[in-house]
Amino acid sequence: APNGLLRPEGAPLTVIAHRGASAAAPENTLAAQEVARRAGSDWIENDVQPSRDGVPFVLHDGTVDRTTDGTGAIRNLTSAQLKALDAGSWFAPHFTGARLPTLAEQLADLRSRGGNLLLEIKGAHSRDEVARIVEVIRAERMTTRVFVQSFDVESLRHTRALAPELPLGLLRSTLDADPVALSKELGLAAYNPSDGALTTRPSVVADLHAAGVAVMVWTVDSATAWQRLEGYGVDGVITNRPAELAGWNAAQ
Ligand code: G3P
Ligand code: CA
Repeated sequence: APNGLLRPEGAPLTVIAHRGASAAAPENTLAAQEVARRAGSDWIENDVQPSRDGVPFVLHDGTVDRTTDGTGAIRNLTSAQLKALDAGSWFAPHFTGARLPTLAEQLADLRSRGGNLLLEIKGAHSRDEVARIVEVIRAERMTTRVFVQSFDVESLRHTRALAPELPLGLLRSTLDADPVALSKELGLAAYNPSDGALTTRPSVVADLHAAGVAVMVWTVDSATAWQRLEGYGVDGVITNRPAELAGWNAAQ
């Protein structure tokens, strides 16, 4: 079957909201997810890591310091401690009271309101930690609306073993020598390089497409860059400005 992440000829770029609409609302909160959904994002990207008691939470950094009113490493904080934090006031007073969502809360919100999740397993996860993520996705009945990505190859191998039904993407900040061979070995649906990495060798897009692998590029916020990436033939763009990318698509 054709890979549903591949962009048909002439179709708009797939819009992926980086950490939600994170230029307009505090990243990785349900508020950012709501703005991203209203912007018409095809996918909402997040970052997942476990609390001390093993609950998958949505947070980018290894610590809560930058994006909450607390301090400390997420892996040292319990879910009760994480739920008590304010994850909005650092961004703007209007968002005071926003919480760090658990993965379950985020998925429940997407299921009831609409939207698909590009879930980034952030950093190395053990098999048991990946199993907990898979358990949550299944419990929320969202396996058909989640696409998993990671920089961590072992986490992708765990995901493939535990949940072969989930499409996988490999994040890269430099290109591998042979992205097609690696994609085949890992069973990838997508190979997701940074814009800087892809620009060193844009011809990998055609090679990956020939192998049925999609290409989603991060994190790109300007129309000049969207135009260039469209010319490379990429399938989608991960952006902090999903409304602007959707508008740019509509104007093409
Ligand atoms: O989705 C790609 C991008 O999110 C990877 O970088 O640091 O924002 O997680 P980072
Ligand atoms: Ca990310």
